[in-house]
Amino acid sequence: MLRTPLLIAARSTACRNLVERAPVTRGLVSRFVAGTTLEQALPAVRELTRTRLVTLDHLGEDVADAAQAQATVAAYGRLLAELDAAGLAGRAEVSVKLSAVGQSLPADGEKIALDNARRICEAAADAGTTVTLDMEDHTTTDSTLSVLRELRVDFPWAGAVLQAYLRRTEADCRDLSGAGSRVRLCKGAYDEPASVAFRERAEVDRSYIRCMRVLMRGEGYPMIATHDPRIISIAGRLAQDGGRAPGDHEYQMLYGIRDAEQRRLAARGERMRVYVPYGDEWYGYFMRRLAERPANVAFFLRSLATR
Ligand code: FDA
Repeated sequence: MLRTPLLIAARSTACRNLVERAPVTRGLVSRFVAGTTLEQALPAVRELTRTRLVTLDHLGEDVADAAQAQATVAAYGRLLAELDAAGLAGRAEVSVKLSAVGQSLPADGEKIALDNARRICEAAADAGTTVTLDMEDHTTTDSTLSVLRELRVDFPWAGAVLQAYLRRTEADCRDLSGAGSRVRLCKGAYDEPASVAFRERAEVDRSYIRCMRVLMRGEGYPMIATHDPRIISIAGRLAQDGGRAPGDHEYQMLYGIRDAEQRRLAARGERMRVYVPYGDEWYGYFMRRLAERPANVAFFLRSLATR
């Protein structure tokens, strides 16, 4: 019930001002965000990479001008150089939102985003690691997949997220199930209309399983991004049925969510990657995490009330 209003609030400047100024917010944000600076996030990355793999997200989305998009590219350049220098690039890659590198700019947004994503891929190649494109709302899916196709000409390891709640995704999984393809399959975190997306939880879960089956039977590298224990156990069975070994697919979860399960999967010999966001543009990311789980909202409201 709270999901839609929270996701609308995630795009509201007035709500943003309110939430960012609430004194309790910082503590709660730190549950999901590794730090507001790279320096703060690196110790968490170092610790996680002892047992797990990592993908880092320099937080930010929907930049308003080309200069902000350039600043995002520079931040990823610095991040990748630091990962390389710290000897972490073998266990940590980066995730990029195309709207943070210009996709939503009114003139030539897609081209600007492609050029900028290319520069990030070049920096990742220099560091010896990979890039995965996050997926935003459904109006951007075609453009993001088109940028992915272009990037893969020079960087065949570039990957992307597909969202099981979209009706189109099973077909997209088929298109992206070929050799060398890296697909991070998630349920989907935006508020999408029924015309393009499944709205019921059970429908989304069924779609997720269909999509996973396509990816597991394919020749690519499936990245199973969910905290859902039922889906994780079905993934294990599908991987076995498809003759897949632990090294040719991976599980992924978000920083701060189901940490014990992350450690359990890693200890079992699975490739387990944690999505680690950092930076001061945490508002949209934080609101989507609240929207996913009513208990998070209750916790947030209780903290406000008890101050
Ligand atoms: P579900 O929401 O059913 O949750 C299953 C269980 O996980 C819950 O019962 C609870 O125990 C736990 N859980 C889930 N969310 C929680 C939360 N916020 N706080 C506490 N516990 C929680 N989406 C998108 O649209 N575009 C993208 O690019 C990405 N990228 C991405 C990368 C990775 C690595 C992950 C894991 C997820 C994403 N997502 C995303 C988010 C994704 O679409 C989805 O919203 C969340 O993963 C929650 O869905 P689950 O699959 O975990 O299932």
